[in-house]
Order: sequence, then C-alpha cells, then structure tokens
Amino acid sequence: MLNIIRKSSILLPITLISCVMTKNNFNPLKNPASYQKEYNESLENNNAFWLKQTSILDWIQPPTIANGSDFSKSTDVKWFEDGKLNACYNCVDRHAQKTPHKTAIIFEADQPGKTIHITYRELYEKVCQFSGVLKALGVKKGDVVTLYLPTIPETIYAMLACTRLGAIHSVVFAGFSATALASRIVQAKPRLIITTETNSRGGKTFSLKKNVYEALKENLLNKNNTVEKVLLVGQSLENKNTDSVSINIKEFNFESLSKLTQPVYDYAEMCATDPLFILHTSGSAGIPRGIVHSTGGYLVYVALTHKFVFDLQENDVYFCTADIGWITGHSYGVYGPFANGATTVLFQGTPTYPDASRFWKIIDENKVTIFYTAPTALRSLRSLGDDFVNHASLESLRILASVGEAIDPSTWQWFFEKIGKSHCPIMDTWWQTESGGVLICPLLKQPQKPGCAAKPFFGIEPRILHEVGGNPEEKEALWIKQSWPGLAMGVWGDQQCFKQSYSSENFYNSGDGAKIDEDGDIWVLGRIDDVLNVSGHRMSSAELERAVISHPAVSEACVVGYPHDIKGQGIFVFAIPRNNVSIQSEHLCEGIKQNIRKEIGPIATPDVILLVSDLPKTRSGKIVRRILRKIVSKDFENLGDTTTLGNPSCIETIIMQVLNKNK
Ligand code: PRX
Repeated sequence: MLNIIRKSSILLPITLISCVMTKNNFNPLKNPASYQKEYNESLENNNAFWLKQTSILDWIQPPTIANGSDFSKSTDVKWFEDGKLNACYNCVDRHAQKTPHKTAIIFEADQPGKTIHITYRELYEKVCQFSGVLKALGVKKGDVVTLYLPTIPETIYAMLACTRLGAIHSVVFAGFSATALASRIVQAKPRLIITTETNSRGGKTFSLKKNVYEALKENLLNKNNTVEKVLLVGQSLENKNTDSVSINIKEFNFESLSKLTQPVYDYAEMCATDPLFILHTSGSAGIPRGIVHSTGGYLVYVALTHKFVFDLQENDVYFCTADIGWITGHSYGVYGPFANGATTVLFQGTPTYPDASRFWKIIDENKVTIFYTAPTALRSLRSLGDDFVNHASLESLRILASVGEAIDPSTWQWFFEKIGKSHCPIMDTWWQTESGGVLICPLLKQPQKPGCAAKPFFGIEPRILHEVGGNPEEKEALWIKQSWPGLAMGVWGDQQCFKQSYSSENFYNSGDGAKIDEDGDIWVLGRIDDVLNVSGHRMSSAELERAVISHPAVSEACVVGYPHDIKGQGIFVFAIPRNNVSIQSEHLCEGIKQNIRKEIGPIATPDVILLVSDLPKTRSGKIVRRILRKIVSKDFENLGDTTTLGNPSCIETIIMQVLNKNK
C-alpha cells in the first residue's frame, strides 16, 4: 500500500530543494591546486563537505546530519540519516520537468541499426507505467523484487519503478546460470521476479525465462521458495510454457497488464538510509553476498562522482559499456547518469559483434563524448588488429575511462593514441561493488601515468597498510579510513558477515594490494585475497572449487588465477580424481567444465583443468593456494618455504605437469 507517497506531475512541478551543483560547472578534478584544496577541505571538514554535496539531489527533507557511521558496530554505515528523498524522482521526474525533450537513453540493440532514442519525458511515462504494473502485482515499499534481465530499456524502467514505489531491486546478471540465479533468489527472498523470454548477445539468443523456471523448481525442491509471481517483459513466445502452472507460480505479461492498470505518478518518501538495492558479488567465501546500497548516501555519491570524474557537461553523450547486471551498470549506467540528467548510451551487445568495430561505430553514429569501458574489452579489440579502429573518426570523444582492473601501460597507450587521438584524458577508476562509486582516479589533466589510478576522490582517505599476521608474500593492502556516502550498508540478511569481512576499527579493507609512489599517487596491484578477477568479473576461488567438487568423480580441488593476455586473469583448476571412479580424463575435464557452467555460468568456464594425484597441503591438511598460484604463474623461484608442508614432494610433479600442459 502506497500510504507514504508524494505526488509528482509534469504539469505541476512540486517545490523541493533545488539542485545547485548540477548548475555549477566548476570541477576541482581539472586542476591539481583546486583538487588539493577541495580534497583537504573534504577531510578536514568531512561532515560539512558532504552536507554541502547533498544539494546535487532534490530532497523532500534535506539532511542535517552527514556521517553517522561507526565501523566498530556491526550495522552502522549511516549517511544523511534524517534526510528524505525518492531516488526515482531524482533520476527521472525532475529532468522530465526541466528538460522533457532531452534524450535520456540511446538504446543500441545487439543487432546494429536498431537505435532507439528515449527522452526524459518518455522515460518518465514508461517508469510510471511500470510502477502501475508493479503496484497492481502487489509490490510495495520495502519489498524485494528480483530482476533477471539483460541490458535493455525495460530493465531500467523496472529498476526505477521499484525505486519509485520504495521497493528494493535485486538485479541478477543475465549471464548467470539457473543455479546461480536460484541461490541469489534464496538470499534475497523476493515474491516477484521480472524477466524476459530471451536475450540476444553477440548474435546469439539465450533463454532467460527457462532459467527462471529452472531456478524456481530447484528452490521449490529444496523448500526454499518465496516467489509467487513472474512478470514477463518484452515479446512472449507463441508456445506458452506450462512451467508456471506445474509449480503453481502466477505468470503475468507486462504488455497485457499495462493495458489494465493506471500509471503511478506518486512516489514513495524514503529515508536516506532505506535500502535502494541489493547486488550480489563474490567475496573470499564460497557463497555470493548480497551487498546492500542505501537510497541517499549512494545516490549522492554516484551523482557527484559521475559529474566530476567524467567531467559531465550539459550536451555530453555518455557511453558506459558495462552490463546492467554489475555494479558499474548500476552506478554509472543508471543511477549516476540519470541523477545528473545525462544522455546515456545503453548497449545490449558485445564489442566484437557483428565485428570489432561495433564500439567505434556506436561512438561515431551517436557522437559519444565520454566513453567508459573495461581493459579486458580493450585488450580483446586490440588483439584483433587496428583496421577496425582505423576506419572510425572518433573525433567526438573528449574523455576516456576504464574500470574493472588495472589497465596495463601498453593497452593504456593504445587506448590513448588510437581511440583518444592523444588528447583525451584516461580516467582509470578504481572502486568496488561495496564502494558504490569511484574511490580513486587520476586528475583530468595530462600528463597521466599509464596504469596508475592515482588520487583519492574527495572525502576518501586511503591507507596502505601491511597486513599483520597476513601471508608474508602478500603485497601491502589498500584500506580506507572512515566511511563515505557510497559505502554499502551491509550484506543482505547477514550483517555480521559485512563487519567481519570489511571493517576493522575505523578502516574499510578493500581486499586489494597497492603501492604509493613518490608523488603520493596510488597504484592498485590486484586482489590479495582469494578473489579472482576474470575479464573484470569478480569470482571467488571457493565458489569455483565448490562447483568442481560437486562432480562425483572429484575428491579435492583448488582453483587459482593466472596471468591471461585478454582476460587479465584466467581460471586454472587443479582437481584430484576419486580413486574408485573410473572415468577417462577428457570426460572428467569436460564434466568439470559443465559443472562450473551449470553452477555459475559461462563467464566462469575454466581455461585450464589439470588432474593431479596430490595437492600441496599444510600438516593440518589445508591446501596451500599460494604455492599453486606461483606455479601457474611460472614463478618457480619464489615458491617460499615448502619444508613445512605435509607433502612437499608433490610440488615437483605438479610443476612437471603444468609445464607439459603448456607445451
Ligand atoms: O581488484 C579491484 C578491481 O575490481 C575489484 C572490484 O570488483 P567489483 O566489485 O566487481 O567491481 C568492479 C567495478 C567497480 C577491485 O577490488 N578493480 C576495479 N577497478 C580497478 C580495479 N583494479 C585496478 N584498477 C582499477 N581501476
């Protein structure tokens, strides 16, 4: 029941606190002196600094308190706690009032030639219509709604409609398998799932609805089902599937329902500390965790970072290539750009379909000025030769940016010269699902240091600390002192896990290694925990190992990352076959591969699988991943002390097998 709502009307604009920052074009990231002045101010008067920045949004009730977080208490990440607002109003209504004819979304479908322009006025109508359908399905403030949808406009309508009603969306990346979807549904406990029949990516069609019903059946079997309804957006297939009937789930079609329902022009009044969304990510543990972001703090942080880091101007055309199913898609594909009233390109496809000129064509055809992508995409495009780029003009580009992993100097140079024509700064943005938005990035000024994320954003106080009691071979760790508005509020349903994993005294542990150079610039060196970064996708060793061990012919397994030319890190699986099971090696390897694809999805398909008879273990029987990481990286000289192992003799055999595998 929408009992706490505000009315928004295009014809009758309501009076809220007006937005100051978006009118002001001053960007302190453009100049070292202004950066330093603003940065010092942001740390010295942290609360006053952040309260001032809240004017980037329109508030129903502006906050008077900034940071109420306390890392020493489990549940206390609290920003702007007395503020009240609605995120959808900030992303849609206020722009539909001020700039109704401005393009909000330029949608580039997987198949080229199907560009669609959606204005802020149209976005408003679509979101209100979607809200009407959700309301008719019983969605109300505080409910969780799972979205298993691709990068299409309907996903944005659905996210913003949830936000409008005060419901919490939980988007699951459409490339995840039915099993991975099932476990995320169990954690989030939604009553409604929104999906579509199929997704088209790279010219291939993937069935999403089928996965939803498989996931629901799996959860029903395990007596773990909370879902009552499925809402289908987009075209439905003729042959209606009977799955929903067999498992007693009600299936609805958006098109039909929208004809029977009234749009919702009201929006819920939300506290700044109310959850905005849940997004699952991988930590060191074997089970993904649902990171929860807040309504007020998160939106202030992504709006401000989006405006400054990309130096957003009124007429920019901004293109973020990330899939909506990941945090970059949430923060800089949806909430940041829409909070700022930007024009954003939404791309459903892949960089290499129909060929490796797709990004460059999208940039030229839409006169893109800001281009935000991932190093793995750039490496893969570069490996296919420069012909695809040489035919493009790319003259509209002004700012380039990258995220997901450190960008190696050679790829950086290619990006700078070939794509940016040596005049666009490259914003190497370091951040994480938990951080909500960018924490470290360079200044918008040249010369830049290739591969160096460089400077903390305002209000961010990084510290490079040696991990006491940590692994002696590990690099120094990157911690952040205090809290910032974009920091996640916790893990859905497991607050203790958030505290244990991330906060220590008044520090946030990023899990990344880093070093600081003589200019005080920060270089991020990659994860130092058991988390892999494969093509910019985060996955834990433990999660992958669970999938390997679920094969009945495997007794033990260990999964580590190794340097990979395109993906950044490849997945290397060590598996010990069970003695009493007779199965051919090729069949076992294929079975392991299929198990991983089933449990997680194709993005986790291993690059190498090695069947071994033993793995290096401590005397207490714990597998020593550190040694295997060194072996697969061919760093045989630095295996460290192996004499304390329970079975040191296995190392030589494993090295021989790894070398043979690479022949
Ligand atoms: O290891 C860092 C790497 O990606 C991790 C966060 O992954 P995820 O939560 O999936 O978010 C990715 C998108 C923000 C970090 O712990 N990472 C991300 N950006 C960079 C990076 N490593 C180095 N440089 C970056 N610019």
